[in-house]
Amino acid sequence: MALYEEISKELRLISEDVEYKETLLSNASALIYDKMEELNWCGFYLNTGEKLILGPFQGKVACTAIEFGNGVCGTAAKLGTTVVVDDVHSFEGHIPCDGASNSEIVIPLFVGGALFGVLDIDSPVFSRFSEEDKEGLELAARTIEEILEKPGYENKLPDSCDEIKEKTKASMGDADLCISLGNDYYYGERFDQDPYKAFYWYEKAASFGSAEGECLLGYCLRKGIGCEVNERRAFGLFALSSEKGFPMAMYNMGYCLEHGIGAEENPVVAEEWYKKAKEAGYEE
Ligand code: SME
Repeated sequence: MALYEEISKELRLISEDVEYKETLLSNASALIYDKMEELNWCGFYLNTGEKLILGPFQGKVACTAIEFGNGVCGTAAKLGTTVVVDDVHSFEGHIPCDGASNSEIVIPLFVGGALFGVLDIDSPVFSRFSEEDKEGLELAARTIEEILEKPGYENKLPDSCDEIKEKTKASMGDADLCISLGNDYYYGERFDQDPYKAFYWYEKAASFGSAEGECLLGYCLRKGIGCEVNERRAFGLFALSSEKGFPMAMYNMGYCLEHGIGAEENPVVAEEWYKKAKEAGYEE
């Protein structure tokens, strides 16, 4: 444990004069990489609220973005706990960056109650990270969190903590939250109006199987909101959403069939869909 206490002490020392996120994390990755033996990669992936992106590190060029739930990093981020992998080749979904890696440890970091990112460390040695290493590195991670929590720390999170928390929760599978974020960008109420971001969040909601998300994504694709117009894909999404009983999608089925959008024009079937939408409670 002496090694990790020393690392924590040095982390505090090297963070004294410059209060800047990149400075701390760059030196933290160098410090750990230097002090620990048998490592081939050590660095940070940072939470944008939408995914994890590569931050300061030591080692070979690495993958730049990781979705929550993917790989060892995305798994640790989603679980909110440390993940130790003795043999990365037997970890389903492991994202290989350096072919020399055989074991890995990933520790999530929280700042202001929001997931800040993860500390990711790779080793060419199988089962490199013992329980003692885990506890020691968690101590180092807690020290980094404490430093980042200091009031003077600039640029610790790309947006406000609440916004990051909300976006992280949405990205981890909360479709309703994805839709409300999409609406915030579409209508420009909470954020500046941004059709691309609206499209992004509706698409995310649809990827989680939300009927409302599928319908709103279809609407964007029909109108070219934040994307190229794709009438066939829009029609497919309205059909999918209608099957799940979403009234606005039923109305859009009618509209597409009435005007030949993404499907053959068919006024009779269009009328049926309008009727179904009305019965399901859709008001134009
Ligand atoms: N192996 C990681 C990806 C990052 S690299 O190891 C630097 C993972 O599966 O998440």
